[in-house]
Amino acid sequence: MNFCSDNVTGVSPEIAAAVMAANVGPSMPYGNDEATGKVEIAIAALFEADADVFLLPTGTAANALSLSVLAPPFGSIYCHPEAHIQVDECGAPEFYTGGAKLALLPDRAGKISADDLTEALKDENGDVHHVKPSAVSLTQTGETGAVYTIEEIRAITSVAHDHGLKVHMDGARFANAVAALNCSPADITSMAGIDVLSFGASKNGAFAAEAVVLFTPGMATEFAHRRKRAGHLFSKMRFLAAQFEAYLKDDLWLRSARHANHCMKILSSGLSDISEVDLLFTADANMLFARMPNQMIKGLRAAGFAFYDWPEEERTVIRLVTAFDTVKEDAEAFVAEARRLGNA
Ligand SMILES: Cc1ncc(COP(=O)(O)O)c(C=O)c1O
Repeated sequence: MNFCSDNVTGVSPEIAAAVMAANVGPSMPYGNDEATGKVEIAIAALFEADADVFLLPTGTAANALSLSVLAPPFGSIYCHPEAHIQVDECGAPEFYTGGAKLALLPDRAGKISADDLTEALKDENGDVHHVKPSAVSLTQTGETGAVYTIEEIRAITSVAHDHGLKVHMDGARFANAVAALNCSPADITSMAGIDVLSFGASKNGAFAAEAVVLFTPGMATEFAHRRKRAGHLFSKMRFLAAQFEAYLKDDLWLRSARHANHCMKILSSGLSDISEVDLLFTADANMLFARMPNQMIKGLRAAGFAFYDWPEEERTVIRLVTAFDTVKEDAEAFVAEARRLGNA
C-alpha cells in the first residue's frame, strides 16, 4: 500500500507487452526505425500540431534539454519555487543551458501567475548587467498537485510572448492534468501558446519514456544535436517508441490517469471529512499534501501504508500520490484507518 510516488509503480501490462513485441529481429538504430517515425507522427497528431517530437528516457533530460533550446547561457527562466527544475534536477537545467539562471516567481496556491510574471518583467530593459529574460517553465500537473486551467496557461503564455519569452511545460504528469480538466491535449499546449512540452509517460505506466514536443518551428536541428551530445540519443530507440505506441493506443494514457485521479478523489474527499486532517492544497489530480497529527501518521505507517513526509522540516505534513495501478480498496482502507485513528 504504497502512496510514496507514481514512480514506485511497475509498468502497465500493455506497455510491457509492447516492449516484448518489439523485441523481434533487427531494426535500424538511433530513431531511424519505422516504429519511432510512426510514434513521432502520432504524438504530433495527438497535439493537433505540426510539431517536432523527440523521445528520451528521463523527465530530467526532457526538461533540461527543452530549456537548453529556449534560453541562452546568459538568459533567465521563470518558474515556481518548488518547480522540479529548481528543486530536484541537480542543476541539470543550468548545466544544459550553459548557465541560464532560474528566476523564482511567487507561489500562488501551487502555481505561478501571469500577474506575477508581468510584475517581474516590468522593469526589464535589456541592461547588459542583467540576465536576459528568456523563458518561463510551468509544471502541469504542478508539484503540489495543482492543475493550471486553460485560461491560466493562456494568460501566462500571452505575457511571456509579449515580452519575447518562450514557454516550457513540464508535463511529467501531463496525463493527470488532461484527465482532471477533461480537455484535449492541444487545449493546454499547442492551442494555449506552449512552445515546448516535456510529455511524460514514465510516471503513468511506462518503463522509461518521455517525449519532448517542440511546437515552435526552427528548434529541431539544435535539439537533435543537444540530445546526442547529452548522451540521450538511444540507439535502440524502438523500445522507447514501443512504450509510447502502447501508451497512446486506445487511450491507455488517459484511462490510466483517470484511474489515478479517481483513487486520489477517494483519498482527498475521505480525508477532508476528518477533523484532525488539513488538506494543504486542492488535490486536482493524483497528488495530495495533508497535515496530520504525528500519532495518526505513525498509526498509518504501522498499518502498512507507505508515504513521504513533506517537506522535511515540517514533519507532520505528508504527501500521497496515486498512480495507474493504485488499488482503489487501498485508498479506501487508508481513509478508514485515518478515521479510526482520529477517533481513537
Ligand atoms: C514534476 C516532475 N518533473 C520532472 C520529473 C523528472 O523525472 P525523472 O525522474 O524521470 O528525471 C519528475 C520526477 O519526479 C517530476 O515530478
